[in-house]
Amino acid sequence: MSELLYKKPTDSDVLLSVVMHPEDTNANNTIFGGRILALMDQAAYACACKHARCVTVTAAINTVNFRTPIYVGDLVSIKARVNYVGKSSMMIGIRVEAENLINGDIRHSNSSYFTMVAIDSATGKPQTVPGLILETPNEVRRFVRSYTRKIEQQESLKEFQAKAFHLSKDHLDWCQTQNARLNPDLYNEIG
Ligand SMILES: CC(C)(COP(=O)(O)OP(=O)(O)OC[C@H]1O[C@@H](n2cnc3c(N)ncnc32)[C@H](O)[C@@H]1OP(=O)(O)O)[C@@H](O)C(=O)NCCC(=O)NCCS
Repeated sequence: MSELLYKKPTDSDVLLSVVMHPEDTNANNTIFGGRILALMDQAAYACACKHARCVTVTAAINTVNFRTPIYVGDLVSIKARVNYVGKSSMMIGIRVEAENLINGDIRHSNSSYFTMVAIDSATGKPQTVPGLILETPNEVRRFVRSYTRKIEQQESLKEFQAKAFHLSKDHLDWCQTQNARLNPDLYNEIG
């Protein structure tokens, strides 16, 4: 790990730019979401490793909403910056833009947050990372917002794990009102 105890978010900025090719497309002739997610993960990895100066792994990815399609020939640019650091985890803010290289039109495709954890290569366990130097109101806003996002994520994980799902007639009846067809034998499964 770096000898520095604190680093600026901008010290670890990453900009990854790639022109989209025909092999990146789905059957709809737009770019695969998975291709963009892989690029986002690479940018988050590079950014987190630059900050921690060690190997990192992706622990979590928050919601990704694709706002606009991306096409062959577009230049996809992914900006990654450390928004928050805990003890061993880092939340990396990712912004994806697609530029039409012919007319210069730039669209905001999506933004997301990747939680990356620094790993000690000798033990394979999480290791501490340098802290962040916050110098602007925006940096403070991102740090605070990312912390609340981390807490919300932990709470929803706990809630999900705690909540056992007990199949009920109400669940089955509700599914019947949705765009789903039920195996009628499921009603025999209700305890
Ligand atoms: C991420 C991982 C290293 C955490 O290991 P762990 O033994 O649970 O470690 P800890 O409980 O000590 O948590 C370490 C840090 O990770 C954070 N963390 C762990 N799981 C997390 C999750 N699901 N989401 C967000 N943060 C998480 C913790 O909050 C903690 O942060 P802090 O040190 O800043 O307080 C481990 O779960 C792992 O190896 N996961 C697989 C990662 C991987 O292979 N990713 C590639 C995708 S295939």
